[in-house]
Amino acid sequence: MSDGLRRDRRDIEQRIDDAARAASAPAPAGDTPDAILRLVGVSRVYGSGEQTVTALAGVDLEVSPGELVAIMGASGSGKSTLLSIAGGLQEPTAGEVIVEGRALSSLDAREMARLRRRSLGFVFQDFNLIPTLTAIENVTLPLELDGDAAREARRMAQVALDAVGLDEKHDAYPDDLSGGQQQRIAIARAVVGGRRLILADEPTGALDSVTGEAVLRMLRTRVDEGAAGLLVTHEARHAAWADRIVFLRDGRVVDESRRESADTLLGPAR
Ligand SMILES: Nc1ncnc2c1ncn2[C@@H]1O[C@H](COP(=O)(O)OP(=O)(O)OP(=O)(O)O)[C@@H](O)[C@H]1O
Ligand SMILES: [Mg+2]
Repeated sequence: MSDGLRRDRRDIEQRIDDAARAASAPAPAGDTPDAILRLVGVSRVYGSGEQTVTALAGVDLEVSPGELVAIMGASGSGKSTLLSIAGGLQEPTAGEVIVEGRALSSLDAREMARLRRRSLGFVFQDFNLIPTLTAIENVTLPLELDGDAAREARRMAQVALDAVGLDEKHDAYPDDLSGGQQQRIAIARAVVGGRRLILADEPTGALDSVTGEAVLRMLRTRVDEGAAGLLVTHEARHAAWADRIVFLRDGRVVDESRRESADTLLGPAR
């Protein structure tokens, strides 16, 4: 890690510490009518009795179209929990998640599955590709599950794979590709079909810095086209791609920086 990066990380840790010490209540979420994602007082407690862990404690957060929000915080601060609750992969213990105006708690299992396929794109650190399917089949699968005709699904998948620079690898299997190429398939799968909310949990974790930048650029492009994005990252220079950085500590939002202040904090990275 370069001195600059080390300094960035120290700055951020200091910032989180300062904000937590100030213990100021986070600003209440505004009421942005067109927010694609809205978390209202979201809490998540694991376990019971003396074993309980409070992973999230009353988080308010809104993400609008065209907005990329980075989530930062120490290991165990609740970042992955926040992402999986935002995507309906698990339910909050308290509070409400609203995606494109619909409260997730009001959806039945079928509606939920449909929303996940239609509106949400997930990118996980470990890619989650299906090894027995080729690159293009991995990208096509969610479209076909959603009833898009096979030929149209294939066309959309081709466009998405070309856009992430995998023109020549449509028919390759994940195991025959590099980590960066696999992650680009995962990104293509997350954005294909115009999904409006993209949730990425350390999508660059396993990648070299050049490939990591390329993955972030794709995410940024999709968001600039009108999607809303949530990006969990440990790296200051990756967070600098976001419009806003939300800092979590012990399951609470302790600070938020808009891009102006983030730029001052992190330096120009883009
Ligand atoms: N299924 C679970 N059962 C019990 N506790 C859990 C579970 N999942 C997460 N936790 C706890 O909730 C807290 C938040 O976990 P989470 O995975 O959201 O953290 P994180 O910020 O993503 O950390 P990291 O940076 O290490 O990925 C941690 O204390 C963790 O141990
Ligand atoms: Mg995590």
